[in-house]
This record gives sequence, C-alpha cells and structure tokens, in this order.
Amino acid sequence: MTASLTGKVYIVTGGSKGFGLAIAKALVENGAKVGLISRSQASLERAVADVGAEHALGIAADVGVRADVHAAFAAIKTHFGRLDGLINNAGLATPNAIEHLVEDEVLLQVQTNFLGTVFCSQAAIPLLRGGENPRIINISSASAWHYDEMSHLSIYASTKAAVERFTRDLRLELQGDGIGVTCIRPGGAWTSFADGWNKAALESAITAWKDAGAYMDTGMDVTQVGEAVRYALAQPPGVAVDLLEIRPNTLTSKAIFG
Ligand SMILES: NC(=O)c1ccc[n+]([C@@H]2O[C@H](COP(=O)([O-])OP(=O)(O)OC[C@H]3O[C@@H](n4cnc5c(N)ncnc54)[C@H](OP(=O)(O)O)[C@@H]3O)[C@@H](O)[C@H]2O)c1
Repeated sequence: MTASLTGKVYIVTGGSKGFGLAIAKALVENGAKVGLISRSQASLERAVADVGAEHALGIAADVGVRADVHAAFAAIKTHFGRLDGLINNAGLATPNAIEHLVEDEVLLQVQTNFLGTVFCSQAAIPLLRGGENPRIINISSASAWHYDEMSHLSIYASTKAAVERFTRDLRLELQGDGIGVTCIRPGGAWTSFADGWNKAALESAITAWKDAGAYMDTGMDVTQVGEAVRYALAQPPGVAVDLLEIRPNTLTSKAIFG
C-alpha cells in the first residue's frame, strides 16, 4: 500500500536546480504542490515556470538564516493552505585541501548544509504537526560514508555526516507526532553543484581524485533522486523509510573532470 501525494504540499529547499528541481517535478507529476526555496529569485522564477506556475511557489531565502526560513515557510503554508512535508535538499561544497580552507569556505558549508537543515526542520515541525502523513526528508551524500571516493571534500562530507546524525534524533523526537523522517544518501550526479568551485583548489582536488583510482562513482540521473523522494513520501502513515542510499552503478572515467 502506498499513500497518495495528490493535493499534498511540500517545501523543497534548493528547489531551483539539480536534485531539488528534479524532486519538485517528481512531486508535481504525482499531484502535489511545491514551495521552492533558494537564494536566487531569478533561478526560482525559472524553476516555477518549468514546474508549472499553478503548482509551485518560489520564495528566496537562505536556509542558513533562521528568521528568513521561518518567514518563507509560513508564507508557503499560507499560500497553499497546508503543509505536508519538507525536503531539506539545499547544499553546497567548496572543495579544498584542509590546510588551505579559508574560514568563509568552512562556515558557508556548515551554515548551509548542517545549520540549514536544522533551521528548516525547526521551522517545519510546528507547521507539519497534526497533518495527514507529514514527513521530513534530509538529503545527505554518499561522500559522508564512502570516503575513499573523493578527497578535498572534508568539510562538505562532515556536514553531511552531521546531517545524518541529526536525522536520527529528529526521527526519534517526531515519532510521537507521526512525522516520518527519512535520510536519502545520493551518489554523484551531474548538476550545477560544481559550477562555483574554486578552479585553483579544484586543480589539486582533481589530481588527488585521479590518484585515488581511474574511475569515480558519478553520472546518476537526477530523476532517480526525485523518484527516491517520491517513494519515501508515499509510505503509508506509521511507516517511514529510515535511510535510502542510491548510487550510480556504472564506472565513469575521472578524465571527465580534467
Ligand atoms: N550532485 C551530486 O552529485 C550530489 C551527490 C550527493 C548529494 N548531493 C546533495 O544534493 C543536494 C542538491 O545538490 P545539487 O547537486 O542539486 O546542487 P545544485 O545543482 O548546485 O543545486 C543546489 C541548490 O541549493 C540551493 N542553495 C545553495 N545554497 C543555499 C542556501 N544557503 N539557501 C538556500 N538555497 C541554497 C541552490 O540555489 P541558490 O544557489 O540560488 O541558493 C540550488 O537551488 C545538496 O545537498 C548536495 O549536497 C549532490
């Protein structure tokens, strides 16, 4: 038995691009409405047009700024008249050797990936409580545990490990409210994730990645992540997917980086 998503309303952070946009599309295709959050209003407008303006609302907010998150979530619930779930997907990485990481690079990753998940969960809980089949899904990364895949992602992978530990307590604390909590741990897929990476730092990262072996674990289609989220949301009340790891099953030459 699966639960229907028709008429449900979900917030997708980082919903303007990549996994977040694929998740939004998967949910809308299954009859849901989506509130999309990202920092760029222009990207959100493109995403809303792509998903269908009648099914989506985009509100610009930084997930690492607690007050902005609360205001955006309240506005989304008011707009659609209900809220059934949150997908904590916004995230970024600034790869660099540990020795050379500057303070801003460390703080940006912690603020966005970990504190963003904390603040968004805090904002969503009171809005979800009492709902039909409410859920929170936290997007982690295979790099949190498969640490032989890539170097130079120490802070990124650590923030995702923190998200996973946080998710375990979130699950326990929300069981009494019937709010299902899921961690989805994707492997690599081609998105705009690497677009803003520091090219100089990337040089040494590429060398280290190549030195670690001839292939890397990437190239999964973003629609697979959208489908994984749909599957977790469609569990019937009283059941939650605890952890879902989804990774590519092909060998991709690392030469694509260089
Ligand atoms: N791609 C992969 O191979 C991969 C693998 C495993 C896990 N993941 C995880 O999957 C999630 C999505 O990644 P992606 O590959 O889809 O990356 P992406 O294409 O770069 O998209 C990231 C999204 O997050 C938003 N975002 C970034 N910082 C934000 C902030 N502080 N506040 C609000 N929104 C913010 C971006 O919009 P703005 O820049 O406009 O804010 C964008 O919508 C991330 O958590 C990432 O760690 C990705």
